[in-house]
Amino acid sequence: MNVVIKNDAAAVTEFACGLVRERLAERRYRVLGLPTGGTPVLLYQALIASYRRGEVDFAEVVSFNLDEYLGLEPTHPQSYRRFMEENLFSHVNIRPENVHFLSGLPEDIAWHCADYEREIVEAGGIDLQILGIGRDGHIGFNEPTSSLRSRTHETALTKQTIEDNRRFFERAEDVPRWALTMGVETIMDSREILLLATGRSKADAVKAMVEGPVAAICPASILQFHPAVTVVCDEAAAAKLDHDEFYRWTGDNQHRMLEFLAEQRRRVAGN
Ligand code: F6R
Repeated sequence: MNVVIKNDAAAVTEFACGLVRERLAERRYRVLGLPTGGTPVLLYQALIASYRRGEVDFAEVVSFNLDEYLGLEPTHPQSYRRFMEENLFSHVNIRPENVHFLSGLPEDIAWHCADYEREIVEAGGIDLQILGIGRDGHIGFNEPTSSLRSRTHETALTKQTIEDNRRFFERAEDVPRWALTMGVETIMDSREILLLATGRSKADAVKAMVEGPVAAICPASILQFHPAVTVVCDEAAAAKLDHDEFYRWTGDNQHRMLEFLAEQRRRVAGN
């Protein structure tokens, strides 16, 4: 895992936006996996600003969102479909036909989930999957103890997730208890993963994900098995990491290895 620690949420956003921009500038990156929630809002704002400055183009981008609440129609103010429309899609030039979403009202859940998997494969797979992380270590809505081999599926939300989502709803009883989510293995099939974590409330989950054992009790810990994951967090979310000095050193000194190697080559050639 490449762990990047930044001072605050603004610096996390700048780093993440730069990475997304760079990848989209490479033609072979086209398919994005996208999260909702509080964490990516700043990133989406930064991407919109970049788009307006002509630095990023969504004309060829294909998107797959991670999850959707069961029971909400796409136009419901708290549906993730609506969230994406308001926070990103309506502000950039992504084509509506390239936007993919799980339905909150599927007629046949198993068929719908299998169809979502088929659509991802047909699009060529997810090139860059952007993730947030739940306080309980969930990614997508893969809650603690859910299978680390899961594909897109229906799930019950934990009490903690329901409480965390309460802030978006007027009444506690309106918060959905079930959702559809890409599975852990669906996420792991992505070519590259960028996970954002900000705020003190994420410190335990970040610690378990990066330095804990790989276990279904913290679904995000499976990312340790992925060859191309960047975790970018602010100081508060990184507060419980034991090896933070090492992550900071490697982050700040990536260029040094190449300089060191060039120096050694010159030395050997000079002998
Ligand atoms: C949302 C999603 C969730 C969130 C997580 C963190 O699409 O997949 O895993 O990323 O619950 O949510 P926030 O960012 O609101 O703390």
